[in-house]
Amino acid sequence: MQYGDVEVHNALFEASQRTQTLLERMAVVPRYLEANGLDATPMILQKIQRLSKNAMLEKISNTLHVILEEEVVHVKKGDVWFSYACELEGVTNDIYFKIIDKYYPQGFLRPKNLNLKARKEAGFSCKELNFMAKKELC
Ligand SMILES: [Fe+2]
Repeated sequence: MQYGDVEVHNALFEASQRTQTLLERMAVVPRYLEANGLDATPMILQKIQRLSKNAMLEKISNTLHVILEEEVVHVKKGDVWFSYACELEGVTNDIYFKIIDKYYPQGFLRPKNLNLKARKEAGFSCKELNFMAKKELC
């Protein structure tokens, strides 16, 4: 097997093409799509832990831990650029949810298990996290 043999999704690339401003691109790509991975990865890891251990699952688990660690950095970088774009546009970070509603009118994805630690490290405020969870989490 070689790189490129397995099909993968290109949601981030498509979202990058659809968003036409720095503000919208940083809201959608790192702070929405990539940040959703911060919530999903721990759930996948939990499922793997329930399975019988073997060498392949160990590799997958180790890889997912690296991906999760790196994804926090990706989202944090996007958060820095998102805040910069907010300053340039003269808007507050509250614009985030309006942008997400614009690009995902079918409904804002509200993860069941927000990864508070990772999302805080990546720049999400408690105000945002509480709004996403529809309850006081922090
Ligand atoms: Fe990423």
